Amino acid sequence: MKKGLFITVEGTDGSGKTTQFRLIRDYIREKGFDIVAVRDPGGTEIGEKIRGIILDPENTEMERRTELLLYTASRAQLVAQLIRPALEEGKVVVCDRFVDSNVAYQGYGRGLSPEFIFELNKAVTDSLCPDLTFFFDIDPKIAITRLQNSADRLENESIDFHKRVYDGYCKIASDFPGRVKRIDCTRSIEEVFEDVKVYLDEIIG
Ligand code: TMP
Repeated sequence: MKKGLFITVEGTDGSGKTTQFRLIRDYIREKGFDIVAVRDPGGTEIGEKIRGIILDPENTEMERRTELLLYTASRAQLVAQLIRPALEEGKVVVCDRFVDSNVAYQGYGRGLSPEFIFELNKAVTDSLCPDLTFFFDIDPKIAITRLQNSADRLENESIDFHKRVYDGYCKIASDFPGRVKRIDCTRSIEEVFEDVKVYLDEIIG
């Protein structure tokens, strides 16, 4: 039985999501909660190895279904090994990306069926769904300019791909308005986090 609280952060590459992820983690920790902060793909020893294969810029031949299954393989491990046990112990789990990334990137971005990806992830995660998801919303054309020179395989994708991913996130946000909070990321880090805190305070009190 899940007792804890599961929070995920989402957005296109360069949205500033990981900076906000760290602020969220620190804020919840300072409030005295027992917190587990992880990233997807990765987060476990096996998952980090899978992450290395997925993001290696040399793996240019990777088929989109191979990519999909590698992401879900890493997630299966992460949920079973870390997320489920932590939630069962009543901890707060904050995860940098989760199933919505799979739907946005491999579904809307790569053209695989979003419905199939949702179903596949139900099997992979035993239908684990976040209690709260932040979508860090910024025009992908602006976001992409924030990326550093050493881009990984996904970051190296075309602007059209990142635009499709972004449109996918917008669709997910409108499909799940209760769970997904859309945060305007065109402002300063501090201003963005002020909005985030409003939703965090609602859920952690
Ligand atoms: P990160 O740099 O935010 O850790 O994410 C790694 C990359 O993997 C990023 O470009 C988004 C992508 N991704 C997917 O394509 N599908 C997924 O299911 C996940 C979790 C991430």
